[in-house]
Amino acid sequence: MSDGDRLAELAKRRGFYFQSSEPYGGAAGFYTFGPQGAAVKHNVEDAWRERFTVREGNMEIQSPTVMPEPVFEASGHLDTFDDMIVECADCGSSHRADHLVEDHTDIEEAESLPGSEVEDLIADNDVACPTCGTELAGRPVEDFNLMFQTNIGPGDAQPGYLRPETAQGIFVDVPRLKEYARNQLPFGVTQIGPAYRNEISPRGGLKRLREFTQAELELFVDPQEDEPPLAEVADVVLPLYSAEQQQAEDGEIQELTVREAVDEGVVGEPWIAYYLGVGRQWYERIGVDLDRFRYRQHLSGERAHYASDCWDAEADVSLPGEDPDWIEITGYAYRSDYDLKKHADHADDEFSVFKQYDEPVTVERPTVDPDMSYLGPAFGGQAQAVVDALADLAANQPDAFEGDEVTVEVDGENVTVPVEKTGFAVEEQTEHGEHLTPHVVEPSFGVDRVVYTVLTHAYREDEVDGEPRTYLALDPEVAPTTVGVFPLLDDLEGRARDLTERLRANGLPATYDDSGSIGRRYRRQDEIGTPFCVTLDERTPEDDTVTIRDRDTTDQVRVPVDELPAVLADLRAGRRSFEDLETPPRA
Ligand code: ATP
Ligand code: GLY
Repeated sequence: MSDGDRLAELAKRRGFYFQSSEPYGGAAGFYTFGPQGAAVKHNVEDAWRERFTVREGNMEIQSPTVMPEPVFEASGHLDTFDDMIVECADCGSSHRADHLVEDHTDIEEAESLPGSEVEDLIADNDVACPTCGTELAGRPVEDFNLMFQTNIGPGDAQPGYLRPETAQGIFVDVPRLKEYARNQLPFGVTQIGPAYRNEISPRGGLKRLREFTQAELELFVDPQEDEPPLAEVADVVLPLYSAEQQQAEDGEIQELTVREAVDEGVVGEPWIAYYLGVGRQWYERIGVDLDRFRYRQHLSGERAHYASDCWDAEADVSLPGEDPDWIEITGYAYRSDYDLKKHADHADDEFSVFKQYDEPVTVERPTVDPDMSYLGPAFGGQAQAVVDALADLAANQPDAFEGDEVTVEVDGENVTVPVEKTGFAVEEQTEHGEHLTPHVVEPSFGVDRVVYTVLTHAYREDEVDGEPRTYLALDPEVAPTTVGVFPLLDDLEGRARDLTERLRANGLPATYDDSGSIGRRYRRQDEIGTPFCVTLDERTPEDDTVTIRDRDTTDQVRVPVDELPAVLADLRAGRRSFEDLETPPRA
């Protein structure tokens, strides 16, 4: 089977994920999470919410997925949210030009190259159409905007777009959200929800979807004063693949603690370093194999239009025996004040926060108070624009008023005004605070890719009792089912069903199974990653104990039935490990 197919087969057969709308032939890039996959996804989202919303003291919102066009004019997505496309002259199929180059050369991030260079690389490397095999040399590489367009209401008077990132739903609501945060920086807003990108050539199942789920945190900070609580993650080790190392001859991954990464300037923004530390702890918690994990800094040509620095969390999602396959699972971007300034320019609202000083301060402010009896007749309909230009110049370049005349640009033309008619003065003013546009720090997780990573890293093949076994060594916190309950004798079925109900009533996802041999029942649960299986056997009616079996080692211990809910809850939450359990002596 080719890369990833073993997992795709298991995923479809056991209900993790499969292509949507299959009876109608499906559409590339759209996947359904089946019962097991939806449960894993919920568990991953819950773990994310616990860490990035609740523990960090942030606010979670849910905003609409369709937003009007002006939002994306302001955000820059209409102009710049493009990928490179090349179309085959023969069969007409479209391909991601930078990915074709990556597949045929040693270049790892062709996205950072200009389109013309990608065009040359396609020709120089005899890249052929993956669909029909025709050479693509000479075909133009063009920009393709990834947003899905729609119309809001009947007709096409109000164009809208499906959001390509949940973040914009947060940014446009900042004028209200900052009130909920009592105008105090820093404050963080999270959102988990769908995002849409009309990817040119989706492939690899969950790896590249056209509808996917993001879990994003937008943290709004005062760049001068707010510092991250670095001490909390100072000793966390980060596998860092910096832009410098990527471009070096023998570039390598540097294992640095968060503190070292900041002190040595490898991660320039301390807030980003903080979240790389928090992120690493979280990936480990949900079962990402940290031996197949790295943080890679974006090369300058690769960064999104809004980012001044960006690091991607990447995971190798190959299955045992396959070639490495690195994918991005999270982007950590320092978006500065880019987004809020853009929305402030385009929208009719206040995206800054009023920052109150501890003590009022007295400042010298250059001002103008133009003589309108002169400006009116002199400039007619342009007079107000001249006043505005003079006020701007006084605020930003007061020296310009030192001579007899001052020149400003109005509607593309230079206009000269005698300084005595401008009313220029430097006044002392008492100020109680200032309007500050917060900077934005953004960890942006792709939930589907995280789920895919967790599944591939959990995928195992071994032998039990001489029989081949495939199982998912999922962390109990994300496994779809915590416990399978099996009666070994017919007359224990009632008891086993009652126990299953009791476990569910204690909040533990439990499944009852009395069909087939015990070996087959174990295999079914192993394959969907159920970490524990409980059997009721001939000893259960005697002493009210059951066995618990550990999925990975297949070891078993006996536990009193009354203690079972608490024991399983502890195992699921990681408060106890299976090795801590001991079979009580037989009464
Ligand atoms: P790529 O380079 O792989 O296209 P990206 O750089 O465009 O990804 P971002 O814009 O940083 O991705 O999006 C943030 C996160 O959203 C990514 O880290 C990823 O996990 C997820 N994501 C982005 N595009 C997709 C997609 N088409 N399918 C699934 N998840 C995606
Ligand atoms: N919000 C970051 C991204 O989707 O690119």
